[in-house]
Amino acid sequence: MSAGAPLKGLLAAFGSATIPERPPFWFLRQAGRYLPEYQRLRREAPDFLSFCYEPALCVEAALQPLRRFRMDAAILFSDILVIPDALGQRVAFVEGHGPRLEPLRDADAIAALDLDRLDAHLEPVYAAVAGTAAALPPQTALIGFAGAPWTLALYMIEGHGGTAGERARAMAWRAPETFAVLIGRLVEAIARFVCRQIDHGVEVVQLFDSWAGLLPESQFRTWVIGPTAAVVRRIKDHAPDVPVIGFPRGAGAAYAAYARETGVDAVGLDAGVPAVWARAALKPLATVQGNLDNLLAQAGGDALEDETLRILSALGPERFIFNLGHGVLPDTPPEHIARIAETIMAWKPA
Ligand code: CP3
Repeated sequence: MSAGAPLKGLLAAFGSATIPERPPFWFLRQAGRYLPEYQRLRREAPDFLSFCYEPALCVEAALQPLRRFRMDAAILFSDILVIPDALGQRVAFVEGHGPRLEPLRDADAIAALDLDRLDAHLEPVYAAVAGTAAALPPQTALIGFAGAPWTLALYMIEGHGGTAGERARAMAWRAPETFAVLIGRLVEAIARFVCRQIDHGVEVVQLFDSWAGLLPESQFRTWVIGPTAAVVRRIKDHAPDVPVIGFPRGAGAAYAAYARETGVDAVGLDAGVPAVWARAALKPLATVQGNLDNLLAQAGGDALEDETLRILSALGPERFIFNLGHGVLPDTPPEHIARIAETIMAWKPA
């Protein structure tokens, strides 16, 4: 290792010539409510969105899981819904119910979204990035993130989660020009947001398209692949060496087109993607990340270790980042996360 160039395990997964002994790992939603120390910290802010705009609290929340599990990466502590909030849409997190947004129902509401508010409003997030970057040990990478355009548009039109996105999907079919205005504004907001995160110390970017799996093929191309490719181009123009991980959850066979056509460096796999298929069809196109079932991480037992080992041998060790297929669930025992971490660290390729 050359002086001043710490070896970051996570960065080695992106097209490096050296084959690592074990794959790097981190966990979707690795910070949050399953940790008692997060629950205590969370009480220092009146509501979740206020928490997201307190840099000192965000830095501490991002560091908490690393102290326990020594992942190869920290992820910025924030939320994908700070973008609609920054654009002037009313956003609140109702305790026990998740996010509530004043839904966008027509072209006028979309036209009122104000990109000029973005940077000043998100200043506390950039301060959290800088603070987290400064606090990390040299071997730990910092991941920044944003929601992808389609998933943000879905929350902004529906007003809440827990739907199958019927209103958003209907608007995309019935009023594609109006919907395209919304998506275009989101591409711009997301690109600016993640480029500023990079300026403040983010080393890898993940784009969360949690609801990509709701779209049929042609709509997937129009509203997932196209806008994601536009965001990736903007990131690459700004910072060519920062890897981008795309997570089109539920995309199924469309994962291959997504990996080929968006320009992402890695694809995040949900738990439904067969590992052997991903190895053959996706690894030639991109680094892969995933995909242990988050319900198994919650359930524990012998199957937890068996499945972790199965995924490691199917997808590792090179061009692979171990992760869950979706976020750590709130009532997951932290010991289960520790067991996954120990299994990965002890693993040797056959
Ligand atoms: O370690 C981390 O990943 C923490 C940072 C983080 C949060 N949200 C914190 C959070 C990240 C990367 C997210 C992403 C996010 N937010 C996504 C994409 C990933 C996914 O799960 O599909 C989405 C869809 C959201 C929107 C969101 N935020 C919802 C639907 C909810 C309510 C459901 C829930 O899990 O509570 C949130 C709230 C939220 N975001 C919490 C945390 C820690 C819980 C709120 C609290 O602590 O009071």
